[in-house]
Amino acid sequence: MIGKTVRELLQQDVFSREDIVRLLFSDGDDRQQLFLKAREVKLREVGDKVYFRGLIEYSNVCSKNCFYCGIRKSNKKVSRYTLTDKEVLAAAAFAHAEKFGSIVIQSGEVSSETHIARIERLILAIKELSHGELGITLSLGEQTHETYSRWFSAGAHRYLLRIETSDKNLYQELHPSDHRFDVRLSCLHFLKQIGYQVGTGVMIGLPFQTVEHLADDLLFMQHFDVDMVGMGPYIEHADTPLFQCNNLSWDLQQRFSMSLKMVAILRLLMKDINIAATTALQAIDPLGREKAIDAGANIVMPNITPGKYRNDYLLYENKPCVDEEPDQCLGCLDARLSLVNSKIGYGEWGDSHHFSLRKNTKDG
Ligand code: 5AD
Ligand code: SF4
Ligand code: FES
Repeated sequence: MIGKTVRELLQQDVFSREDIVRLLFSDGDDRQQLFLKAREVKLREVGDKVYFRGLIEYSNVCSKNCFYCGIRKSNKKVSRYTLTDKEVLAAAAFAHAEKFGSIVIQSGEVSSETHIARIERLILAIKELSHGELGITLSLGEQTHETYSRWFSAGAHRYLLRIETSDKNLYQELHPSDHRFDVRLSCLHFLKQIGYQVGTGVMIGLPFQTVEHLADDLLFMQHFDVDMVGMGPYIEHADTPLFQCNNLSWDLQQRFSMSLKMVAILRLLMKDINIAATTALQAIDPLGREKAIDAGANIVMPNITPGKYRNDYLLYENKPCVDEEPDQCLGCLDARLSLVNSKIGYGEWGDSHHFSLRKNTKDG
């Protein structure tokens, strides 16, 4: 029997692993049809607005050693920084003044009490300075249930923790043996139990990763019923162990194209979630984020870290916006997004529709 054509697949509402693999392999006109369909679903389900999340790269200090990451603990070439309270609050005030719906506080993984308490204080202070208007998303790695609860009580309401890959074996290949897939998974469960809007994501085009792995990643997101996803191409960094395996990765253009297809297929699988057009896409293609918006994404995270630190938060090579200051990125993004006919959801939290529905069903 001949398999289904991409056009036939795009008429479906439910997709098997095999269907997803077929869509991930789509090319040429088929791929265009996939993007068109994803855009159509996005406009119908979540509208044409793009929401900004101001990204504050709070600190590049990290206790972990992920094999792919430029700021891993053992990379001695990195000059380590942590923003002062004043700098964090100034960045938050900037985001509020610019009517961003919310901010993301991201850093390497640290679990000392000093760090936990400081983040807690910052959350309270940001809530106060913005009169509760600024939404706060955290991306601070694996923590205990208690820590997640403390930060939630202080006022954070979304948390991003990428699973990186949903394949346990591949996960272990990409991390030292004391980094456990099961711990990552239980953290995601804690976050959900506590009541956060939960975001996850994966890297695309990793050494040893197959298209089947990627199909499973999408199914993982669907089964876990996440509210938000941020995923993008893996981009090598010379000062990491995984760099040695570079001959095993697809070329950058393939990773880029696969990332756009992942976004588009995810939009078909999870119609009402928030999907980020990630910065790593822009590291490969100057119009990468805009292309992702066109293919189904609806969130952009402009970097609002003070300019002088940006060169030290290099998870991967060729990271964009490292020479810009926050207001420069803002002007640039405004202009870029108007090119793809998207409105910006100024002053709105832009919560995932999916989360509201999930919550109402649970509460009601
Ligand atoms: N290429 C692309 N993304 C990376 N990340 C870390 N290192 C890289 C890399 N070399 C991503 C991980 C992590 C997020 C903060 O950055 O997915 O969760
Ligand atoms: Fe640390 Fe995150 Fe980089 Fe891993 S990916 S080394 S946890 S900053
Ligand atoms: Fe930073 Fe364009 S978004 S320079």
